[in-house]
Amino acid sequence: MLDQSDPRRAKTTPAGLPLDFQTHLAALEKLGLLVRVDRPINKDTELHPLVRWQFQGGLPEEERRAFLFTNVVDSSGRRYDMPVAAGALAASPQIYAIGMGRPVEDIGSAWMAAIANPIAPVKITSPPCQEVVIKGDELRKPNGGLKTLPVPISTPGFDAAPYLTATLCITKDPETGIQNMGTYRGMLKATDRLGVRMASRIGGAGGYLHWKKYRARKEPMPCAIVVGCAPVIMFTGPQKLAIDMDEMAVAGALAGSPIRTAKCVTIDLDVPADAEIVIEGLIDPELLEPEGPFGESHGYVALEDFNMSMQVTAITHKRAPVLVSIVSQVTPSESSVIKKVAYEPMFLSHLRDQLGVKGIRAVSLHEPLSNIRPVIFLQFAHGAARSEVMRGLDGAAHLRADCGKVVIAVSEDIDPTNTDAVMWSIAYRSNPIEDVHIFAGRSGGHGPKSGRHDNDSTMLIDATLKQAFPPLALPAREYMERAREIWQELDLPALSPQPPWHGYQLGDWDKAWDEFARRAVAGEWEKSGKETFARRRGGLTPETPARNVENPAKKSDE
Ligand SMILES: Cc1cc2nc3c(=O)[nH]c(=O)nc-3n(C[C@H](O)[C@H](O)[C@H](O)COP(=O)(O)O)c2cc1C
Repeated sequence: MLDQSDPRRAKTTPAGLPLDFQTHLAALEKLGLLVRVDRPINKDTELHPLVRWQFQGGLPEEERRAFLFTNVVDSSGRRYDMPVAAGALAASPQIYAIGMGRPVEDIGSAWMAAIANPIAPVKITSPPCQEVVIKGDELRKPNGGLKTLPVPISTPGFDAAPYLTATLCITKDPETGIQNMGTYRGMLKATDRLGVRMASRIGGAGGYLHWKKYRARKEPMPCAIVVGCAPVIMFTGPQKLAIDMDEMAVAGALAGSPIRTAKCVTIDLDVPADAEIVIEGLIDPELLEPEGPFGESHGYVALEDFNMSMQVTAITHKRAPVLVSIVSQVTPSESSVIKKVAYEPMFLSHLRDQLGVKGIRAVSLHEPLSNIRPVIFLQFAHGAARSEVMRGLDGAAHLRADCGKVVIAVSEDIDPTNTDAVMWSIAYRSNPIEDVHIFAGRSGGHGPKSGRHDNDSTMLIDATLKQAFPPLALPAREYMERAREIWQELDLPALSPQPPWHGYQLGDWDKAWDEFARRAVAGEWEKSGKETFARRRGGLTPETPARNVENPAKKSDE
């Protein structure tokens, strides 16, 4: 494995961005982000459940790792020479960032710049991805064709077959010639046949739009399924780009240089020349075949649906390829991380740059269990106009038909990734009758089909701060920081501060109270006591705000 000596192999850009999947694995290993498992692992029953534990086992995100299984077996006792990688594309944003060759905080801007300035690919001949070519009768041999690939079962106990999950399904618009690349699951059906699921819902798969054109022409649709290539190319699969945008050119812009492509051996499509494995085939334009059950990223098992049927015409691969698999199903998962880091900047750019929403600061897609699509949080600058907050809520609910069923706006002091903080904001900063808006007219989106409403609805909540508030009731920052030093001196357990961890002003305050607070910490509180003694009054009900009586211009609610 990791055949890095061959000079024909793509390696990294000068900036360190991997142009080949195995170079990426080597980079992860060097950084201690890859766990190599050399003991036998059953791909049908053990592989995904093992990697899954890092999402279900209470590990912090930064402790998640890529896994490389070098001794893969299956339930029939077969041993595979081909290693399997899982979690290697996006078990965590840090792992995704290694594939992008830049720090996590630069991922969003890199996507925006690449979409604006694509770099066209260059074609080469005799590519590494075609060092081995399997076609014709070899595809139909018992235990041949697709059965030579160690494809894992993602949700043993529920899935109906091994599934390809880390795919880049390449199809071409028969009218414009522009290729689309999407990550769609592929179900193993026979040594030379796959079930492919391209979502037909509004905002679904680009490949489905192509298929409709082939159906109208009564021609089979050529499809190349790339399994494993440079992460920047893989990442365009789940990213939502315009159907007429050549994603290979966006990947080139992410890499800063043209992607090397090569023509498939049996169909007229271009694939990344440095891919690990490519499955070429023709999708029937008319006949669909039952596909599933398969554990879905919305967190439920997708039941059998009629989906596309692909006749494999060739399998090509490197001399020593690695098969990559993505851990999806209940979120957080590798599938939600890979989408979250790419979708959030896309939403922010839409609201800020296209709609010109004033005061929008950040977009956060809710990940645990809900799968980033239905629930979206927006963060606004303090003082953002209510009408701008409303435009932002509306814009986020409608950018994509399957995203933004519930959109909640909070102010800049609230961490939108902290759902407790969002609930706190709803509790004290919104008045449901004024700030919650519910309306009909949403398509079903991505979710289980049982009991599904075709006419779903949308809920928008403005939980931003709408007027000045008293300070947050925690010791001011300087006192918490000083106390943390003492905490460390005392060798107490390590802290990981959770915002809010200190008090701060929210606009409703009087200078006189600053003086009280100053005196209090200086041990001079009796002076304040003397002053308030002089302000005593009769004829009032307890809990009457002092400023209502002494300074009615600043009256507050009683
Ligand atoms: C692991 C994984 C599996 C996915 N499976 C499917 C699928 O089976 N069908 C589908 O339509 N979308 C699937 N998606 C979502 C698409 O990749 C995503 O909507 C993407 O934008 C599609 O690209 P397109 O707009 O070029 O079609 C999957 C995403 C990930 C990360």
